[in-house]
Amino acid sequence: MLDIACGTGYHAIQLAKSGLEVKATDGSEEMLEKTRMNAEKHDADIEIEKADWLNLTDVIEERYDAVVCLGNALTHLFHEDLYLRAIGEVYEVLNEDGIFIVDQRNYDCILDKGYDSKHKYYYCGQEVEIEPVVVNEGMVKMQYMFSEDERYYLTMHPIRREELSGYLKETGFRRIDIYGDFEEEFDKYDPDFIIQAAYK
Ligand SMILES: C[S@@+](CC[C@H](N)C(=O)[O-])C[C@H]1O[C@@H](n2cnc3c(N)ncnc32)[C@H](O)[C@@H]1O
Repeated sequence: MLDIACGTGYHAIQLAKSGLEVKATDGSEEMLEKTRMNAEKHDADIEIEKADWLNLTDVIEERYDAVVCLGNALTHLFHEDLYLRAIGEVYEVLNEDGIFIVDQRNYDCILDKGYDSKHKYYYCGQEVEIEPVVVNEGMVKMQYMFSEDERYYLTMHPIRREELSGYLKETGFRRIDIYGDFEEEFDKYDPDFIIQAAYK
């Protein structure tokens, strides 16, 4: 399987440790270095390579049964054309019947009702306080506060669940299963994260 947004390597390492053959890619050399260090630390056998979502097929020659893009990563993209191009690249690197698993913050909730988090599955630690400092249909800027003097900001595109499902369908995925915080049955505004599992 292929993790196209490996970041620090958390998911790639867990998946490799559970017995899967894993390749981890990311567009940032800095993050790849973190994955390398963490894979070594946790004795996980992972192939690691730099690849941008928009040009995945330039780098990835193999075809995979599963591709994951987790941690609200895909919402780094801000334009419809970029979503369609990135998802199209994912589609190409999947085997027939392969699955693409992509998650996102519950932006429908953030936009319509305001940000809230149960900290049940995501950001469960006590070290960081997370809150949005800007919310509108065009962007959500999150603040990650570790202490009064240590704050980081991340600006993401608040893509609505149905918008992302639409891009997956338009690309050609034949079936999409949607989960809210890993549950099949959920109220639209209840989950912290939405996970879409798209089948080629
Ligand atoms: C929010 S992090 C998620 C990391 C990891 N999946 C996790 O859940 O901990 C998003 C990652 O996507 C990567 N990324 C952003 N834009 C990218 C692009 N166009 N191509 C490849 N990677 C990209 C970033 O470098 C970052 O490591």
